[in-house]
Amino acid sequence: MALLAPSILAADLSNLSQQIKMAELGGADWIHCDVMDGHFVPNLTFGPIIIKAVRNSTKLPLDVHLMIENADYYIEDFVNAGANCITVHQEAVIHLNRTIIKIKELGAKAGVAINPSTPIEMLKDVAEIVDLILIMSVNPGFGGQSFIQNSLKKVRDTVLLRQNLNANFLIEIDGGIDNKTAVPSMNSGVDVFVAGSSIFKNNNISAACIELKNIINSADTK
Ligand code: DX5
Ligand code: ZN
Repeated sequence: MALLAPSILAADLSNLSQQIKMAELGGADWIHCDVMDGHFVPNLTFGPIIIKAVRNSTKLPLDVHLMIENADYYIEDFVNAGANCITVHQEAVIHLNRTIIKIKELGAKAGVAINPSTPIEMLKDVAEIVDLILIMSVNPGFGGQSFIQNSLKKVRDTVLLRQNLNANFLIEIDGGIDNKTAVPSMNSGVDVFVAGSSIFKNNNISAACIELKNIINSADTK
């Protein structure tokens, strides 16, 4: 069963709790939270205090995507705020192995994200210790961008890497996921689908979740 992780980046933040409840009613599996620092990516969002507010709004696992430099300084704050999975960017972390171990020692699941221009080979030496690999299917920083088609090949390469290493990580995709792009993503081997605009910009958030979940679970031809 593939999982759906609605991204609150596209939500109405003045009604965050209610919007999360709508996603939950529609069968959301995780809540995806995009943290941006204005350095690694050209946009600013929020930090641990909003993660704490999200934590108080739902019991669903919080999937925290850190698009920030110096992630090591903040990991403990995000865990204390209620993050269940923390994903850092390969391009933004210098000692990736150390950071992954730190996340796990603090009791959270550890993920690593790669930008569209970063080959999956860059994660070969940490693939056996991560819980999740996030393939960015847009350049990180903004919601509402178009899906980059080359991401599908990268997902397939990641499935092969997992097989070759006999590793266990989940494969997550993030950026431009909607009812159309979800189908080839599913068929390429994605386990977790992040979707922002296609869910929270829809007039009926629950219905959008239900429809996307049906698609990602019926397109399965693996
Ligand atoms: C982009 C973020 C995404 C974003 C996706 O940098 O990582 O999680 O919310 O938004 P959509 O689904 O609108 O592309
Ligand atoms: Zn994200």
